[in-house]
Amino acid sequence: MKRCSKIIGTGGYLPETVRTNDDISKLVDTNDEWIFERTGIKTRRIAGPNESAASMSEIAARQAIKAAGIEAGEIDLIIVATGTPDRVYPSTACMLQHRLEIQNCVSFDIQAACSGSIFALSIADQYIKSGAADKVLVVGAELCSRLVDWTDRGTCILFGDGAGAVLLDSSDEFGILSTHIHSDGAFEDLLYCPNPQVATEENKAEKGFITMKGNEVFKVAVNTLGRIVDETLSANSLEKSDIDWLVPHQANTRIIAATARKLKMSMDQVILTLENQGNTSSASVLLALNEGVRDGRIERGQLILLEAFGAGFTWGSALIKY
Ligand code: UT7
Repeated sequence: MKRCSKIIGTGGYLPETVRTNDDISKLVDTNDEWIFERTGIKTRRIAGPNESAASMSEIAARQAIKAAGIEAGEIDLIIVATGTPDRVYPSTACMLQHRLEIQNCVSFDIQAACSGSIFALSIADQYIKSGAADKVLVVGAELCSRLVDWTDRGTCILFGDGAGAVLLDSSDEFGILSTHIHSDGAFEDLLYCPNPQVATEENKAEKGFITMKGNEVFKVAVNTLGRIVDETLSANSLEKSDIDWLVPHQANTRIIAATARKLKMSMDQVILTLENQGNTSSASVLLALNEGVRDGRIERGQLILLEAFGAGFTWGSALIKY
């Protein structure tokens, strides 16, 4: 069997504070019924004032390291996917490396919005397959609540904070079978978050909030995720019925249900965290994976399909024999 990337540990962290739909209905003109019906979300977690992408990453990463039964010092590479880094630089991954007291490894961030964890898994897999690294820590960490305009009902109902982590190790047994990642920069206007401090003259009036044409994003997401399912199955000569679990990015239950329908899967085969986490962007797939692994639904030897879609647009999948 060829060298592949096996999941040896997972972790996750959600901040303590819960914000309900009723809480949000005191801020904007909305209600619990509309939000739950249109998105599947009931509550989301909001990070405390002293929490950051690095601090949340550390908790998720330590859990994954413990589950893997390794020492932090054995890690060769740390990749953090985040759109809310603590600082422009150094990278959150370097901060995490320091927090984990690892003297000698390579650490960098990647930014692919909500597809970040799939992109990071794909990069990690190339490093492991090529022999450039053995143990790789992949983290997705987001403080979406600080990028949200709490007066915009089209976006503030959707997002939450959290961090997910996974530890990969080289194996000749099984692990990541394939990853498929894509980008198309033509859709910038449908979903973006300005960075006012480095804006051009033309853009400098824009505030640093998530700006989205939700309905248009929704349609592209459903079609694109349908295509990525076909691409992944055909690359591995598999049938829809071969997949045991769908671990999707958690943006909207209606989007997830469309992908499950495409796979002819029942919603019982989908790891859904959306209801109590909202959309945690690059953290969501790893948080869902962690939940499925820890509660015993995902078992060794099963086939799991991870997928995500986000700003860029970016989208991708990872097929894993767990
Ligand atoms: O993770 C990255 C990718 N992001 C996504 O995938 C998000 C994709 N988009 C979505 O999840 C959905 O488009 C939303 C949940 C954001 C919106 O749902 P929708 O069914 O697409 O609603 P809509 O934007 O078409 O709006 C329908 C109606 C509008 O009213 P009118 O014009 O029909 O009178 C909106 O003004 O719902 C209204 N509306 C709301 N009403 C109550 C929009 N937001 C709200 C709200 N509460 N929060």
